Amino acid sequence: MFENIPSSIKKRMEYLEDLDRKHRTENVPRHIRLRQVPKETGKFLAIMASLAPAGTYVEIGTSGGYSALWIALACRKRGRKLITFEILPQKVSIARETLQAAEVEDVVELVQGDARVYLGNYSDVSFCFLDAEKEMYGECYEKIVPNMTSNGFLIADNVISHEEILADMVAHALSDKRVDSVVVPIGSGLLMSVKT
Ligand SMILES: C[S@@+](CC[C@H](N)C(=O)[O-])C[C@H]1O[C@@H](n2cnc3c(N)ncnc32)[C@H](O)[C@@H]1O
Repeated sequence: MFENIPSSIKKRMEYLEDLDRKHRTENVPRHIRLRQVPKETGKFLAIMASLAPAGTYVEIGTSGGYSALWIALACRKRGRKLITFEILPQKVSIARETLQAAEVEDVVELVQGDARVYLGNYSDVSFCFLDAEKEMYGECYEKIVPNMTSNGFLIADNVISHEEILADMVAHALSDKRVDSVVVPIGSGLLMSVKT
């Protein structure tokens, strides 16, 4: 997957990496900042998405579409489709540009709106990347886990960088008998839960 990333995807990834770096160094307001995952996390997501069982792939929190591009590599490889949710119109327009420029509109569907409204519509989630506001992680977790296929993956970002605010959710996942969970120290820290 990583040796032959199509040039349209690679070019857009590099564009978003530059923009994200700029946002982090110049004090850009929070609702504009991309706040995207680092490259290592992107690679991890692509590998895990390529190993996930058949079913619906979901992303909660698209921003400019950087993590969606990594997951799209796995979708291409496995013949899967990703549905990604973004609530902010400014981010939606960057993400639309991303999907078009990277030529991945056939494998990534962008939905504008609050992901929590839509999550109940999918009963066969085999891969979910949760990367939105930390206050809503617990609610999203409870909406996703019952709808996951056996051996499906739920990956949540920022569980180390935002350890305090996510402590209850992580403790719950680690003792939840419906899943096997582990914290993976890549990037900002990922909680990975696999449906039993
Ligand atoms: C950390 S950024 C996502 C970064 C992205 N996953 C990446 O790595 O490229 C979080 C995004 O979640 C969006 N968001 C927050 N609450 C949401 C909700 N309820 N539904 C959908 N998107 C939401 C925010 O607007 C923001 O763009």
